[in-house]
Amino acid sequence: MNVVITGGNRGIGLGFVRQYLGLGAEVWACFRSEAGALADIDEQALHKVRWDIGRDDGPVGDLPDAVDLLINNAGIYGPPKSEQSLDRVRPATMLEVFNIDCIGPLRVVQHLLDRFRPGAVIANVSSKMGSVTDNSSGGTYAYRAAKAALVMVSRSMALDLAPRDVHVITLHPGWVRTDMTAHQGLIDVQTSVAGMVDVIGRARDYDPGAFVAFDGSLIPY
Ligand SMILES: NC(=O)c1ccc[n+]([C@@H]2O[C@H](COP(=O)([O-])OP(=O)(O)OC[C@H]3O[C@@H](n4cnc5c(N)ncnc54)[C@H](OP(=O)(O)O)[C@@H]3O)[C@@H](O)[C@H]2O)c1
Repeated sequence: MNVVITGGNRGIGLGFVRQYLGLGAEVWACFRSEAGALADIDEQALHKVRWDIGRDDGPVGDLPDAVDLLINNAGIYGPPKSEQSLDRVRPATMLEVFNIDCIGPLRVVQHLLDRFRPGAVIANVSSKMGSVTDNSSGGTYAYRAAKAALVMVSRSMALDLAPRDVHVITLHPGWVRTDMTAHQGLIDVQTSVAGMVDVIGRARDYDPGAFVAFDGSLIPY
């Protein structure tokens, strides 16, 4: 099984890399600029590829000719919550976060479009923060809007790729202790990733574009 993972050098992405290597997959782990913890993993099945998903010029390094699973994991929160409030958030911040969290995964899929094998799965990592229904506290304009837009992009992708037997779902990892959360959170990377790997393994139990949490529960849009 050929697996491509963006943002694979730390946090949840690195957790995915480790789990899929453990499952015997060939893994193309992408990193923006620094290989980070990937540099310490010496396995033949691991292929390291430089790929800044915020840019149009694509990856530096070889990707597999055929892809069975793409995990669009890379993302940013943007500036701290206090800088994403109604009175402080800036247009430049909205655009910066949108470029990475929504357009980034779209760029990656466009680049790989001819490589997905029939039966392939694409998992786009959004966040419950991007659920309109779940938004009961307001604020965090840039991150919420970009992750909500990713849910929509993911749903369109799911419908457009279904005739090619490529199944697309959207994931919520839970509140996970990583750099993004300053290592606050309810669960560790291993728990989050193990749950999402299980969900991905039975992705076809879910409707195209379904928004699914790490524990298998559905997130309302
Ligand atoms: N942690 C949570 O509680 C939580 C909750 C909901 C959703 N999520 C989502 O889960 C995903 C992973 O989050 P995390 O907690 O593991 O975050 P993290 O620890 O901050 O890691 C983010 C990863 O994304 C990469 N990345 C950022 N911008 C990139 C770009 N332009 N091109 C390529 N890679 C880029 C980072 O690479 P660099 O090392 O180069 O910066 C890093 O590998 C994100 O999409 C996040 O929004 C996380």
